[in-house]
Amino acid sequence: MRTAVLISGRGSNLAALIDACRQPDARAEIALVISNRSDAAGLEHARAAGIPAETVDHRRFAGREEFDRCLSDRLEAQGIALVCLAGFMRVLTGWFAERWRDRLLNIHPSLLPAFPGLDAHRRALAAGVRFSGCTVHFVRAEIDAGPIIVQGVVPVRQEDTPETLAARVLQAEHRCYPVALDLVASGRVRVVDERVLIDDAATPATIVINPESG
Ligand code: GAR
Repeated sequence: MRTAVLISGRGSNLAALIDACRQPDARAEIALVISNRSDAAGLEHARAAGIPAETVDHRRFAGREEFDRCLSDRLEAQGIALVCLAGFMRVLTGWFAERWRDRLLNIHPSLLPAFPGLDAHRRALAAGVRFSGCTVHFVRAEIDAGPIIVQGVVPVRQEDTPETLAARVLQAEHRCYPVALDLVASGRVRVVDERVLIDDAATPATIVINPESG
């Protein structure tokens, strides 16, 4: 399935998706990368992999809707079937979310619906949660909301700073996003009543407790 990845910066999730889609059994192909910033470091990952990479600078547009229509046109012109937001730091319009409904994925560095929006790690630490993680979900018009496809959980340590927690969650992100994309590309994912159902989903049996006793 021809997949586009939209980025704004570092692009480490993009790199993880590119790596995963290089495997012979991968069902998604990263066919296009679009950044809204020409200086996004992540564009290099695309170029190094020989994937077409474009910049669509949001500042060239009168408003969000014009920008989103241009993005959508670019995606359609390239025959894109799925779109992954990977650190794409522009809020997309409801029009775009509807146009790409159930074909548009996002990754967020918290266990949604907890801590949507910016500063997720700082807020998780302030709330004193014992676990955090990441969520891959289908995009809806509301920010960091929509049917959840995959979540990855990491323990929070007492001595964590937003930076150390972010680094641990990022490792989970790099594992979760390829899993979610492959599930969607395989056709095993359905959205029913705004919940994701996955054919033959395997669920871990473990309970994880933090802190561990003793
Ligand atoms: C990732 O941690 C991603 O979850 C986050 O931006 C980072 C991008 O890193 N996205 C959001 O906060 C979206 N609300 P990357 O450019 O190295 O993939």
